[in-house]
Amino acid sequence: MFDPRPLVDIASAIGREAGALVQRMRASAVVSFDTKSTSTDVVTAADRASEQLVRTRLSELRPGEPVLGEEEGGSVVEGLTWVVDPIDGTVNYLYGIPWYSVSIAAQLDGESVAGAVFEPATGRMWTAARGHGSFLDGSPLRVSTTTDLSLSLLGYGFAYRPERRQRQADAWARMAARVRDLRRAGAASLDLCSVAAGRLDAYTEHGLGRWDWAAGGLIAAEAGAVVRLPGSSPELGEDATFAAAPGIADAMHSALVESGYGKV
Ligand code: IPD
Repeated sequence: MFDPRPLVDIASAIGREAGALVQRMRASAVVSFDTKSTSTDVVTAADRASEQLVRTRLSELRPGEPVLGEEEGGSVVEGLTWVVDPIDGTVNYLYGIPWYSVSIAAQLDGESVAGAVFEPATGRMWTAARGHGSFLDGSPLRVSTTTDLSLSLLGYGFAYRPERRQRQADAWARMAARVRDLRRAGAASLDLCSVAAGRLDAYTEHGLGRWDWAAGGLIAAEAGAVVRLPGSSPELGEDATFAAAPGIADAMHSALVESGYGKV
């Protein structure tokens, strides 16, 4: 039977090495940067160098296996694909907010089986293998036991396009009256890990790349979260990612739909 745990060890080791590079480069990398989909969607030299390093190490340790990365692209194939976000939370990185990660997942036929999310600024490592639970620095993770939507903490994110952002903000304003509070932390992989650890009761965002959710989504699911990936929840929007503690997942989903979030 296929055991994904050795893939977690590889993802963790490479993530740690890439994370060290990202930290070493920070002072020089934030001086100048390029933009991608909009003027607020940034990429630094460290994003590119980190992806290069991950690709090189994967080609040494897992020769011939395809890689999909945020900066250099690629595609998901039948069989095994590595999915890499070389810096998730690049805007936080740029501003010196220590909430960014290197995220590496292995997907089998497009589904995550192993994942590692490394926080370069703190040295914390989040991991999961399908069927084997999820961990923060080796300690098992479990989602929150909350059952009351009005006492739930909801993480969220914004799209890059200003018009969509405005519609999302309107929906978040409606949600604010229905939950304990909202958090926009700025790194999707770590938002998903936060649901795994019970630091958030739920998290949702539209328009994530596969590299944003591939490792974190598995870490949340293995900690007991209800996870819906893009394409699986049309009521929330075709490109919605959603993760929630089971005790509030249905209520949160309904509240989001009622807030108009699915039509932004
Ligand atoms: C971004 C972060 C952010 C989310 C954006 C992502 P990047 O990833 O995860 O929290 O709101 O949608 O693109 O570009 O920093 O890898």
